[in-house]
Amino acid sequence: MSNISLYYKNVTADVIGPEHGIGPKQFDELAEQVKPVIARYNEMREFNKAKLESGQLDEMVNPTWTLYRELPYNEDYPAQVKEVAEAIKGDCENFVVLGIGGSALGNIAVQTALNPYMYNMDEKQRNGCPRLFVFDNVDPVQIASFIDWIGDKLDKTIFNVISKSGRTAETASVYLVMKQLLEEKLGASAASRIVATTDANQGTLRQIADESGYRTLVVPDGVGGRWSVLSPVGLLSAAVCGIDIDGLLEGARQMDERCSSTDFWENPAAINAAVNWNYYNAGKPISVMMPYSYGLKDLSDWYRQLWAESLGKTKDLSGNDVFVGPTPVKALGTTDQHSQVQLYREGPNDKLFTFLQVNNFERDIVVGPEPACAPELGYLAGSNMSKLLNAEKVATEYALLKDKRPCMTVMFDKVDAEAIGQFIYLFEVTTSLTGLLFDIDAYDQPAVELGKEATFALMDRPGFEEMAEKITPVAKLDDKYIV
Ligand code: PA5
Repeated sequence: MSNISLYYKNVTADVIGPEHGIGPKQFDELAEQVKPVIARYNEMREFNKAKLESGQLDEMVNPTWTLYRELPYNEDYPAQVKEVAEAIKGDCENFVVLGIGGSALGNIAVQTALNPYMYNMDEKQRNGCPRLFVFDNVDPVQIASFIDWIGDKLDKTIFNVISKSGRTAETASVYLVMKQLLEEKLGASAASRIVATTDANQGTLRQIADESGYRTLVVPDGVGGRWSVLSPVGLLSAAVCGIDIDGLLEGARQMDERCSSTDFWENPAAINAAVNWNYYNAGKPISVMMPYSYGLKDLSDWYRQLWAESLGKTKDLSGNDVFVGPTPVKALGTTDQHSQVQLYREGPNDKLFTFLQVNNFERDIVVGPEPACAPELGYLAGSNMSKLLNAEKVATEYALLKDKRPCMTVMFDKVDAEAIGQFIYLFEVTTSLTGLLFDIDAYDQPAVELGKEATFALMDRPGFEEMAEKITPVAKLDDKYIV
């Protein structure tokens, strides 16, 4: 069984000194501050779980805060996902996800982590599974190019439109484009090429799906978009593309055990949250996640949304203005050593670094011999590429530590479905605990909602006329300021 672990020695005062590092006494104090938070969160979760099991949903407290934690234990969702995956398998060469934010980033992250780099290009590497495309934007140039290519393959293509609310303009518009295309090409059988993943009972997409006779899967009640990757939202594309979804859920269950521990020193989510919270309060509001593995690169995109939408808030739970939120930044090792590390080492010491490191790569490559005219490349010849990649990680960390920049590492023994499930769950619980430490609601996103509504207004949606008027001064360009 693979495992991931959190290595945090390089945030301690022993390594980077007392000004920027956390000393033993301060760590003990952090542990004392976090312990009641873990206990409070566990209590709330247990209460909600009991209510869920007894069907007393109305009596739950803040269900959105805790219900995502039960996803790895739900047996119905993976069964439903497998049934749909099985039903579409023989007849699907292209699987296209239409969604955005929490309805897309987890799908992309899981796919990049667990399927080969050339998956879409190479039938052999796909091993009988369809190509995967995820459209999480409304760029006409991108979509037009896709339409040019997919035009004569629609009868072998399945579209999975994912939207909890069912009203998100980006997802809705791409869906309407594809629906029209399908109907023009396939007529009455168009509906059989669409799977809708949405709220069980309400919303525009639910209504369309029911009326059109689409296959459907649910975005579970009480689980917000960015917390939903381990629900049918993320599981269907994974299952269709041959990913071991039982392994993902098993990994999440293993991490749940570790993240539920009330012993701070045994709980990786508690330590991760405490360190992040501490540094935010100590003048390091930027949190850089830097995987040293191409496969893990989109996990930092997924994390970026989870961290930013959950923790960037104006109000605390008592309604006071607090304007908190660490800024998540994604980087990729080694690529960004050659674009960001100059800033990271010599710029302001305002960042906490979290590296992702893989100890055992699934495959390795041996570097070829050096040419006779370039003996200076001899040190590379015969070496494993993984050795170079991990050496560069340690080298970057060493350089950062020399400049007293705090660093943590999430170590993957290997990258497989269990490890990815563990990582997802670790960062979800970390985010929940950090939200409680900040005393904010980590589960809403009012600022995103306003942008969605302003889009409706600008697109002349009836009912949004008042907002359209308010936006006019911003939408209208002032010639005086154009150079
Ligand atoms: O985390 C969230 O709630 C958001 O990022 C949503 O996932 C995103 O805005 C898409 O919303 P919906 O699934 O309702 O279309």
